[in-house]
Order: sequence, then C-alpha cells, then structure tokens
Amino acid sequence: MTAYLNGRFLPLSEARISPLDRGFLFADGAYEVIPVYSRYPFRIDEHLRRLQASLDGIRLANPHTPEQWRAIILRIIAAAQFDDQTLYIQVTRGADSKRDTPFPSGVAPTVFLFTAPLISPTAEQRASGIAAITAEDIRWGRCDLKTVSLLANVLTRQLAVDAGCIETIMLRDGFLTEGSASNIFVVSDGLILAPPKDQRMLAGITYDVVLELAAKHGAAYAVRPVSEAELRSADELWMTSSNKEVLAITTLDGQPVGHGALAGKPGPVTRQMHAWYCAFRDEVMRHAGS
Ligand code: PDD
Repeated sequence: MTAYLNGRFLPLSEARISPLDRGFLFADGAYEVIPVYSRYPFRIDEHLRRLQASLDGIRLANPHTPEQWRAIILRIIAAAQFDDQTLYIQVTRGADSKRDTPFPSGVAPTVFLFTAPLISPTAEQRASGIAAITAEDIRWGRCDLKTVSLLANVLTRQLAVDAGCIETIMLRDGFLTEGSASNIFVVSDGLILAPPKDQRMLAGITYDVVLELAAKHGAAYAVRPVSEAELRSADELWMTSSNKEVLAITTLDGQPVGHGALAGKPGPVTRQMHAWYCAFRDEVMRHAGS
C-alpha cells in the first residue's frame, strides 16, 4: 500500500517517524479522513478547508497549498489497488531533538498520508440500523478541531464496543454533542434536529451535506441545541460520517428508537435522507468522471 511521508511516496510498511515526533509525544497534530469513491475524493475542497481550520486552531502553519495537497492526494489514490478508499491525512508539529511542550522552532511538520479500502456499513446494518449507547462527553473544549488528541474518543467508543454496540452518543450538560466518531441527527415529529456547530462538536463534512440536502428537498429541519430528553424520545436517530454516510440508529441504551410499528426500525425520514445522500454522491461522482 502506498503512503506519503514528508515528501516521499513509499510503501506504508516502510514509513517511519521519530519517537520524538510531537504527534506521538503530545498528540500535537491535526488530521482528516476523506472518502474516495471510484478514485474520486468526495468533497475534497471542504476537507482541505477543514484541515486548514484545524491547523489554524492549533497554530500550525499549513505545509502545503490546496493545489499541492490535491496533487499528493490524487497520486496516493491512483497508486491504490482498490477504487473505493478512505484516505487519511495527518500533520503534526514534527520531531524536535528533545521533549518540551512549547512549540519548537525550526522544526518541520510531519506530513503523513495513506489510503485503505473504504469499509462501508454492512447490508445488515443498512437494513436494520445499528445500536448505540450514551455516555458523558469527557473531551476537551475544542472538539471543533479535528486533532489527533483522540484518547477520549477512543475510550468513549470502546464503551460501545464493550456493550456490543457500534457508536457512543455523547452528552454534555444534558445536551447532545455528537458521536465518538460521527455527528448525530434526531427526528422529532417530522422535524430533523441537528446540534449547532460550535466548539463542542466537529463540523462534519457529511453533516453539512445532510443539511444541504434537507434544504434542497424542502425537508423541515432546525439547527439548535438538542436535549437529552429529545434524544431519548426521538422518533428516529441517525449518525453521519465520511465512512458511515447516513446510518440509522435503531437501538439506544438497549431501548428501541421510535414509537409504534416503526420502533427499532430505520424510519422514513432516515431512509429518505440516506437515499438523497446516495443520489447526491453518485451525481457528484458522475460529474467528476465526465
Ligand atoms: N471521524 N465527529 C467526530 C468526533 C468524528 O470523528 C467524525 C468523523 C465526525 C464526522 O465528520 P465527517 O462527516 O467529516 O466524516 C464527527 C472520522 C471518520 C474519523 O475520525 O475516522
């Protein structure tokens, strides 16, 4: 598998970084995950803009222009043995000759990319939805930055795995923030509810696509704080991310999501949004290919 490390394209198995890399010592870096369909990076401009915002947020100069990023990304994608990919980008503050927390001077950032086969939800997950649990959001105050400081996400996600579930939905001060690796949408009385973008959650690229699609198709939606009570009494829930796209959550803390005959099943709004998402993605890819 081809990777990129600091100016060189090389097999992933040959990529090496220093143990003094600040990404390793301090999780001092930012990252992106871009879904690639039929070798086209979906929403690449938006991902590169968010990378810039994350780097600005941690005061790390972007080592590349968007054109340079695009050239590196396209070369990695072209070298892969598979068409649908999940492309990973990481930039850290580099490796100094000592371990000291303030920013080092004269140290080049570490730039690392690799791509792997895109693992999409299974047919069973698509048909039945997935199970999630809730947990307190224990992360820091800048969850809007996509940094590699992911220990809280790791611990929180593992709670779901331990419970035989797929995702953990996080709550802070009685309000929904997001999933451990996804954004969460609530449907209540036909209205799609999305928590507002602020420092408590990552502004998901898929989240933006979903809200654009809701607006385009005239679906009723509101971007506003969503309480724990609204989450628990939701008619429908779904998660979004670059890998999962739009995926129904049909069980929450062991209870079926929704009411009546649809309880515990993917609901109509979720299924409609997933269909709009697939149609939009395929349309974008068709134009990219022409
Ligand atoms: N994570 N919130 C968090 C905490 C995330 O980690 C992610 C995605 C999202 C969704 O963002 P997007 O729609 O841009 O993928 C929201 C990626 C997939 C990851 O860390 O692997």
